[in-house]
Amino acid sequence: MNADAPSAQFVPVNAFDLVVFGAAGDLSLRKLIPALFHRWRDGQIPEASKIIGVSRSGMSNDEFRALALESFRKFHPKDGIDDAEWTAFAERLFYVELDAADADADWPALTAHFVDCGEKQRVFYLALPPGLYGQVSANIAAAGAKCDGSRIVLEKPIGNDLASARDINEAVGKVFDEDAIFRIDHYLGKETVQNLIVLRFMNSLFEPVWNANAIDHIQISVAESIGAGGRASYYDGAGALRDMVQNHLLQLLCLVAMEPPLDLEPDTVRDEKIKVLRALRPVDLANVRQTTVRGQYAAGASGGEVAPSYSEELGRPSRTETFVAIKANVDNWRWKGAPFYLRTGKRMSARTSEIVIQFKDVAHALIRSDGGKLEPTRLVIRLQPDEGVKLLLVTKDPGPGGMRLRYVPLNLSFAEAFEARYPDAYERLLMAVVRGDLALFMRRDEVEAAWRWVDGVIDAWARDETPAYQYAAGTDGPAQSAMMLDRDGREWFSGV
Ligand code: BG6
Repeated sequence: MNADAPSAQFVPVNAFDLVVFGAAGDLSLRKLIPALFHRWRDGQIPEASKIIGVSRSGMSNDEFRALALESFRKFHPKDGIDDAEWTAFAERLFYVELDAADADADWPALTAHFVDCGEKQRVFYLALPPGLYGQVSANIAAAGAKCDGSRIVLEKPIGNDLASARDINEAVGKVFDEDAIFRIDHYLGKETVQNLIVLRFMNSLFEPVWNANAIDHIQISVAESIGAGGRASYYDGAGALRDMVQNHLLQLLCLVAMEPPLDLEPDTVRDEKIKVLRALRPVDLANVRQTTVRGQYAAGASGGEVAPSYSEELGRPSRTETFVAIKANVDNWRWKGAPFYLRTGKRMSARTSEIVIQFKDVAHALIRSDGGKLEPTRLVIRLQPDEGVKLLLVTKDPGPGGMRLRYVPLNLSFAEAFEARYPDAYERLLMAVVRGDLALFMRRDEVEAAWRWVDGVIDAWARDETPAYQYAAGTDGPAQSAMMLDRDGREWFSGV
């Protein structure tokens, strides 16, 4: 392969009908419709395709198109939009007023949009609360809206715990086969997350040292500067553990920790990921205080402005965590003794997501560093923003005057190395659904295994009455998070 050759991009998909339930909601307007517009603009979506928005609000096609455009401009202000391009795209947008949870609603208004089964792929995207997934699936079938081979897309979270996830999976599974169910974790669609597999398995440098013999520990941090804001009512029932760790952070952990798969077939990769989830050491009453920290943001400052506390945003006091840090142990041969420290939070100092692989100290230091402490080799994979990979190495400070040491990065910045616009995760994921490529989606047993571990944490928190420590908005979580690592002689590292 020529490293300079442009990669083949945007292979067109076959024409499809995509029904978005919850079309007037935040996810649809902020992410899904803009993603589809981008795929249209790049010529990937055939003319004969239809995107049919469904929700309970009364709206005409034109009103829905106007709302979609207004939202696009609001949420993607830097993304110039050409009127002619939008108009051509919007001709594919339709709207149906329908309460999808009601079997007796006007389903024929939706089915009237479809052509015969077999002519076009039909996809149902449920941008709805998970409690409705089972009922809406049943209603889709009862209305005769589903063909053999139709696909359904479920947004995370799948449930609120293992029991509710099982109920949802059972109910949806009565209507759709497992290989027609696309459970979205949008982190799996991110460019740098996909690159994790390439980095690990297509460079011979890493695999021999990718284990606890050479690696001291791993950190996975997903920090957000925004607060719970308008989503506080959903968020308060979830918290950072369910909202972020159960899915995004555990998926990242799996991709870092899994054994090399035999190939990249969806089930081959998913089989390896689930082994990691099963190897996670349970968190219980005995170890919960040593291995987890919960936090909640108090008032502070964010982006130079005064930021309210979480409970002020919510309008009442709450015990829900907006920050969590966890020391996770993967109890298998590869990772014995090398823990994974996970942390995520809202209203932190900046929006940064990165994975830090920290290698062990050199066995014998020939040269003392001036400051006393010799930095270890670190591989930092920056997921967002400023996607890239850094290998931090100790080098000799150039010039005379003896052996002074400097810690500097070998820096691969994606923006500098590749002049490409990266499709948003939803662009990639939506096209993968239309193609029927399950590799970027979570299988039922994966979701349930992740819940089983998370349920253990929730249960231990409840029984231990673990407090959520306050941290000022605009900071990096409560001091207890740094103390958890300090007890192990380690510290959080930011590769900025
Ligand atoms: C979602 C969570 O899954 O991911 C949100 O529900 C969070 O609370 C979001 O803000 C973060 O996604 P990203 O792509 O902005 O890192």
